[in-house]
Amino acid sequence: MKNTDGSTPHIIVSGGSRGLGKGIVEALLTAGYRVSTFSRKATPFTEATAANPAFFFETADISDSDSVTAFAKTAQTKHGTPFGLINCAGIARDGVIATIKNEQVGELLAVNLAGTIHLTRAVVRQMLLSKSGGSIINISSIIGLRGYSGLAAYAATKGGMDAMTRALARELGPRSIRVNSIAPGYLETEMIHGLGEGQKLQIIRRTPLGRLGKPEDVTGAVLFFLSAASAFITGQVLTVDGGITC
Ligand SMILES: NC(=O)c1ccc[n+]([C@@H]2O[C@H](COP(=O)([O-])OP(=O)(O)OC[C@H]3O[C@@H](n4cnc5c(N)ncnc54)[C@H](OP(=O)(O)O)[C@@H]3O)[C@@H](O)[C@H]2O)c1
Repeated sequence: MKNTDGSTPHIIVSGGSRGLGKGIVEALLTAGYRVSTFSRKATPFTEATAANPAFFFETADISDSDSVTAFAKTAQTKHGTPFGLINCAGIARDGVIATIKNEQVGELLAVNLAGTIHLTRAVVRQMLLSKSGGSIINISSIIGLRGYSGLAAYAATKGGMDAMTRALARELGPRSIRVNSIAPGYLETEMIHGLGEGQKLQIIRRTPLGRLGKPEDVTGAVLFFLSAASAFITGQVLTVDGGITC
């Protein structure tokens, strides 16, 4: 795929150092995109990929708006105006509502919601100035759609991302920028390490496809939303969960 001027499209991915974000970065590089990503810490993956000229990584903290604004500027200097943004960086903190701590609530809101909004603002400013359209993909969660006991604050942030998807689809559609969410089910990443074996087996039993998801189960949907195959789709939430919510 190429931009109208013949260059390779540039995609920004938040949280591409490990887990789902890493899987997305790998799939995008394989598909021929240029990719910029950040997280708070470098990982063996970002270090091993640093020599690839299509890849740019810098440390940044999405909960710090100055940090993400600076990252977006450097990424644009490195690879040009982005065509795509994948809002993937996120954290999960469990805690029942009666005892969840202020710090846990604050951290969830700052990373998953405010951070996503700040990064989207910085990238959309670039997209609007270039007038070449784009595709934004918010990685939300089935927890935001269906809930999960003990994850009310996390669920609120993910439901909030889906709400943002719909509002931005209306705001940015006239500028040829599409906005969609992908709501994954339970994926085998560090994020679910806190689940006990019993909980994982229960999830697998309730999943029609009979297993937990992997990052590569989600990357096809990401490539679809970036491609012309989804040119008339915006404001949607696509569930990728092995059927657990069906
Ligand atoms: N795993 C699942 O079952 C599942 C299901 C549905 C949705 N999701 C969503 O998928 C996304 C990725 O989750 P994952 O499972 O891949 O989690 P993960 O393995 O814990 O990876 C999270 C990524 O986000 C980055 N990150 C976290 N806090 C950050 C911050 N303040 N600033 C910048 N980067 C930050 C992490 O890097 P650093 O820690 O170095 O900053 C890492 O790269 C999340 O939005 C999550 O809510 C996951």
